[in-house]
Amino acid sequence: MNDTTPHMGTLAVWAGENEPASGAGTQVPIVRSVAFGYRDVAEWEAVGRGQVAGDIYSRNTNPTVRAFEQKIQCLEGAEAATSFASGMAAISNTLFTFLAPGERVVSIQDTYGGTNKVFLEFLPRQTVEVEICPTEDAAVEAAVAKGCQVLYLETPTNPTLKVLDLPRLLKAGQRVGAVTVVDNTFATPINQRPLELGADLVVHSATKYLGGHADALGGAVCGKKDLVSRVYHYREITGAALDPTAAYLLLRGMKTLHLRVERQSASALTIAQHLSTHPAIAQVHYPGLGSDPGYPVAKRQMRGFGGIVSFELVGGANAMRHFLPRLRYAHRAANLGSVETVAGPPATTSHVELTPEERVTAGIPEGLIRYSVGIEDPRDLMADLDQALAP
Ligand SMILES: Cc1ncc(COP(=O)(O)O)c(C=O)c1O
Repeated sequence: MNDTTPHMGTLAVWAGENEPASGAGTQVPIVRSVAFGYRDVAEWEAVGRGQVAGDIYSRNTNPTVRAFEQKIQCLEGAEAATSFASGMAAISNTLFTFLAPGERVVSIQDTYGGTNKVFLEFLPRQTVEVEICPTEDAAVEAAVAKGCQVLYLETPTNPTLKVLDLPRLLKAGQRVGAVTVVDNTFATPINQRPLELGADLVVHSATKYLGGHADALGGAVCGKKDLVSRVYHYREITGAALDPTAAYLLLRGMKTLHLRVERQSASALTIAQHLSTHPAIAQVHYPGLGSDPGYPVAKRQMRGFGGIVSFELVGGANAMRHFLPRLRYAHRAANLGSVETVAGPPATTSHVELTPEERVTAGIPEGLIRYSVGIEDPRDLMADLDQALAP
């Protein structure tokens, strides 16, 4: 960034917020209209053909949704962005845009459960060849070297927070001409910008940190203009468009993204350090711990280590049933990235779509807790964890 390029905190507040007309409201309005009217037929046609800026029908474009797209585009440093009704809509539409029968995709074992389901169930039905590697750089590199049309990565992973070396793997993808896609939901652009590290596309569940208040579903795809417009073209037809009211809530949430994520990342590190010495904890997964296998790469490619800490309870499933109900400052829910702390067992939440056998392969024991640190005072969260962990 040069001196005049705004920093992330400024972009989070101002990107996508166009100067209102004199006397108009300062906030992006929620435009709920399904269609946009034109008295002049020639103008209507010119907008429809994309020769003049404007909106025709909200499944395709909508002013509130466009403001959300502009904000995430700026935060990710992308040429273009498009949006979706949810993170899974963004991910599945992206994969189906770039993969035709007979083609090949390489990904990792530790993707989000829904994404994993697309790889294991839906793409094979379209006779797409899917190679799911162990979540290790060398394994991914070897699979990519055999050739593929798409390389799909997620780092840090959900829920065990493994870290992949993005510059190394994205270079491997480029060498074979693959479209490279990174799910940046956990890190957010505040902590990691995959496009700067060589990715073609970034996908988001905006439902999580971008919105930050657990009150709106949404998804986004950002990156190279020609690729984003192919994804957009596919979305026009699948109809998985973002609702304008959700776009408004996501936009409002994103204005504080930098503040929330910086606080959550700092608190998560403190909590991970605290838990790593606790006798009731068998293992802590957090890439910001010096002892974590992901630490050296995370330190190179991330600005902060994120707000999620996962830990395995010594007592397994029974300990999990004892611990979770006792937490005072956590929603027990299948979500993450909100201002409130959220805790849950991935085996029955994010990875419930997997069969028990698939969960074993993915390394998700029943006593694993995914703890999404909120913006509360970390001292209160640590005291809460201690009382809930007490026998
Ligand atoms: C890393 C990651 N990607 C994608 C998704 C799917 O997002 P959504 O629930 O918005 O469809 C999730 C949901 O938890 C996620 O954690």
